[in-house]
Amino acid sequence: MNAKQLYMETFGCQMNVNDSERIVTMLADLGYRATSQASNADMILLNTCSVRGGAEEKVYKRLANLRPLKKAKPALIMGVGGCVAQQEGNELLQKFPWLDLVFGTHNLHLLVDMVRDAENGERRCETAFIDNEQRLDLFPPAKGNSRVSSFVTVMQGCDNFCSYCIVPYVRGREISRRSAEIIAEVRQLADSGVQEVVLLGQNVNSYGLKTEGEPNFARLIRMVAEIEGILRIRFTTSHPKDMSDELIACFGDVAKLCGQIHLPVQSGSDSVLALMNRGYTRASYLDRIRALKAVRPGIAITADIIVGFPGEGEEDFEQTLSLVEDVRYSDLFIFAYSPRPGTRAADLVEELGREQKVQRLERLLELQKRITREISESLLGTCQPVLVEGEGKHHGQVSGRLESGRIVNFPGDPGLIGSLVEVRIVKAYQNSLLGGKYYDLTAEGAEEKPESFAVVQVPCFKRGNPLEDQT
Ligand code: 5AD
Ligand code: SF4
Repeated sequence: MNAKQLYMETFGCQMNVNDSERIVTMLADLGYRATSQASNADMILLNTCSVRGGAEEKVYKRLANLRPLKKAKPALIMGVGGCVAQQEGNELLQKFPWLDLVFGTHNLHLLVDMVRDAENGERRCETAFIDNEQRLDLFPPAKGNSRVSSFVTVMQGCDNFCSYCIVPYVRGREISRRSAEIIAEVRQLADSGVQEVVLLGQNVNSYGLKTEGEPNFARLIRMVAEIEGILRIRFTTSHPKDMSDELIACFGDVAKLCGQIHLPVQSGSDSVLALMNRGYTRASYLDRIRALKAVRPGIAITADIIVGFPGEGEEDFEQTLSLVEDVRYSDLFIFAYSPRPGTRAADLVEELGREQKVQRLERLLELQKRITREISESLLGTCQPVLVEGEGKHHGQVSGRLESGRIVNFPGDPGLIGSLVEVRIVKAYQNSLLGGKYYDLTAEGAEEKPESFAVVQVPCFKRGNPLEDQT
């Protein structure tokens, strides 16, 4: 019998990417094989994002656009999962009569059963949140983002209820994964040759705080750092209010922890931060930044910023511009405010139109572009440690990342993949760097490094935010 074809499309953040991979594995048991072509699929699933209105609109457009396929092949099963499914539930089945199944963010374990029902013509919607005991057993397994680097989920959900944010409503309450399970997973990854782990969660800083007997996040990092074979540790995303001294201290003395942090600020104005329910002030955020820079000079800091939040006047926006100048982020993710149904901010009156929001977005973008370019140019001629992750953009090149997460392509043999090398930076592009000569730190006799390869620490770059969708 020919395998049935499953076409899966994923929107949004790394959580969804993880879930989609799990779905593909689960449905393989029912005889479905992943295909990259919607046109000849037997089942089409959209795993969706609703963090901003634009992301949600995209899903509806896609659904409309896929309708002819269902008309041409009535046996085709069509489903929607993820955050839009969680938010809209049964409404989706009503609005889109060609849809067969809708599954929420806590309902992946029901999917096999739902697909069986759909094969028998039954339309189902499952969006109930499940209890914590069951959730603890359903954490997604690690997912490689390259041969040498892997995401490891350490917590899910969020209890912060920032007034603009839909995440707590569609992803549910915060839950920390068992540390024993995390450590066992990282050990297994190390055994299989993975050298870098990225600890993942909506708010990793509050890991373990609500679970008796579990370490806090700083302690968890130290436990992961003890695992042999792991050379680099990163984490995302952090909340400034939970950025403890203990966690900041890790950047000072855990050598494996990369000098890079994504610390979303959202706004530089105290009154906007209060309206956003962020739980910190401009001064306390800047205090955390100072502390980070003190223990790890050159640390690369990135952030998310929302422009045009209700009540953001010109002066408030200027406060954001000046904060960005102060911090000197290596990169920024900037979003125009988009009201989300059911959130507290959705009741606030919006004074700015789309055009004004876009204008502020562009002003901020311009400023950040200059800072990014300046930092980028300061790297030219220096030698930087790079973990080689794969083949490069062009033939004869390999590609890796600086500690900051910035991508470097340089001439080298694929045999270097998995090595830690020092590369001289010869050219800076908008989104990547070009390297020249390199020195393999993992090769035999590498201790006798020539002096010309001394590493110079300079502020550095982005990795990108796996929790983010750029819509
Ligand atoms: N409008 C605009 N941006 C938002 N974000 C979250 N909710 C909204 C919204 N309603 C942004 C925040 C957050 C990132 C993941 O998405 O900056 O940090
Ligand atoms: Fe939670 Fe982040 Fe959303 Fe705030 S912005 S509610 S911390 S997911």
